[in-house]
Amino acid sequence: MSAPTAAVAAADSAAASGAEAPPVFSVDGLWKVFGPRADRVPADPALASLDAAELRARTGCTAAVRDVSFDVRKGEVFVVMGLSGSGKSTLVRCLTRLIEPTAGRIVIDGEDVRAMDKARLRELRRHRAAMVFQHFGLLPHRTVLDNVAYGLEIQGMGRAARREKAAEVVAKVGLAGMEHRRPAQLSGGQRQRVGLARALAVDPEVLLFDEPFSALDPLIRRDMQDEVARLHREEGRTMVFITHDLQEALRLGDRIALMRDGRVVQLGTPEEIVGAPADDYVRAFVQDVPREQVLTVRTAMRPASPAERTATGPTVAPGTTVSEAIETVAAAGAPARVLDEGECVGVVDAETLLHVVAGHPTPSDAADRSVAEPGTGGPVDGAAGRPADSGGGAGASTTADGSAVAGSAKAGTSASADEAGEAPAGPAASEESV
Ligand SMILES: Nc1ncnc2c1ncn2[C@@H]1O[C@H](COP(=O)(O)OP(=O)(O)OP(=O)(O)O)[C@@H](O)[C@H]1O
Ligand SMILES: [Mg+2]
Repeated sequence: MSAPTAAVAAADSAAASGAEAPPVFSVDGLWKVFGPRADRVPADPALASLDAAELRARTGCTAAVRDVSFDVRKGEVFVVMGLSGSGKSTLVRCLTRLIEPTAGRIVIDGEDVRAMDKARLRELRRHRAAMVFQHFGLLPHRTVLDNVAYGLEIQGMGRAARREKAAEVVAKVGLAGMEHRRPAQLSGGQRQRVGLARALAVDPEVLLFDEPFSALDPLIRRDMQDEVARLHREEGRTMVFITHDLQEALRLGDRIALMRDGRVVQLGTPEEIVGAPADDYVRAFVQDVPREQVLTVRTAMRPASPAERTATGPTVAPGTTVSEAIETVAAAGAPARVLDEGECVGVVDAETLLHVVAGHPTPSDAADRSVAEPGTGGPVDGAAGRPADSGGGAGASTTADGSAVAGSAKAGTSASADEAGEAPAGPAASEESV
C-alpha cells in the first residue's frame, strides 16, 4: 500500500477542517418520479408539494427523489442514509443515470451528466464512478481473479496486464491465495471483497456503494467497514456510501445526508446530525446514539476566562471526543483547555462534559440553533445542502411516527423496497452486472 500523496493529505485535512474541497459530484434540484407523465410533477408546484399518498392518488406517480441538492467533495465519504423506501438507491443510481432523472442537474468534475451521450455515459460508469452492489453481482463461472479483471476486460485492457492489475487489487482487499476460487467457494464477506476489488480495479475517481454490507453478519460487516475506512484513509478515494444503518453511517461518513420520503431532511457531519438534529424526525433517528462518542469538545466546550486562557494543566485538541475528554479531565482532576494550533479556544470541565452525556444542549448547540432559525444554515450545510426546514412538513408528523420508524431501522431489514432498488433499471441495467 502506498503512502498517502500530498494531494490526498490536503483533501483529508480540508475535510477535517470543514474547508471546501472541490466537488466531484454536484447535484442540484434533482427529482426522480416514477409513473405516468412523470415530468409534470416537478414542473407543477401544486403537484410537487403533495405528499406521497396524495401524489399517488392524484397522478399514479411515486416521487422517489424530491428536489435534492448536495455536493460530494473530493476525498470525502458522503453517506446517504434513510429508512427503506426513502429514495437512497434511486438517488445513487441517478448519479450515473442507471436510472434517468426526471428533473434537475448532475455535474461530475464540471461535466453535465444529463447531457452525456451513450458512449460518454459508458465511460463514466466504467472508469470514473464504479458501483459496489449489495448482492455482489459476481459472475459465478469465473474465478476471483477473472471477476476482478472483468471491468478491465471490458475497458479493453490486454489479458496479461489486466490479470496483473487484478492480482494486485485482490491482495489489497485481503484475498491473496484465493485468486482461483469461484464465487460459490467463498463466504459472503469474501464475495463482497471481490465486489469491492472489481470496483477498485478500474481505479475510479469515485466509488458508489449501495448498501454493500447489509447482507453480511455483524462481525464481517464490521471488518468490511474497516476495509472501506482503510481504503479511504490510505488512498483518499471519494466515496458515496448508502446505508440504512446509523452506526455504519456514523462510523464511515465525513458527512451524512439523511433522507426521508425522497427529500434530504438534514445534511451535515455526524457530529452535527447527532448534536443538532434538524427536526424531531432526525432527533428520533439519533436518540440512541452514545453522544459522547460522536460529539467533540468543539461542541461541548465553554468559553475560557482570561485566567484560564493562560493557565497550565491538561489540554485537549478540538477534535477530541467527549468520552476521551472525560478520561483526561477525570485523570487530572481539573478542567482541560481546548487548544487549537496552540491557542486556547475554550475549556471543558466535568460539568460541561456530563451535560453532553446527559443529552442537554451544549453551549455551541445553543449558538447553532440561533443561527439555524431562519432556515438558511445551522446544522445543515447551507451552501451544499437543503436548508434545515426543507423537509416541509417533516417535523409535523414526527415523534411517535419518527421513533417508530427509527426502531425499524435498527432492526436492519429492508425487504420490499430493497427488491425494487435491485430491480433492473431500464436500458442501462446491464451495467449492473459489470
Ligand atoms: N422502478 C420503480 N417504479 C416505481 N417505483 C419505484 C421504482 N423503484 C423504486 N420505486 C419507489 O421509489 C421509492 C424509493 O425507492 P428506493 O429503492 O430508492 O428506496 P431505498 O431508500 O433505496 O430503500 P431500501 O433501503 O429498501 O433499499 C420507493 O417508494 C420505491 O417503491
Ligand atoms: Mg435501496
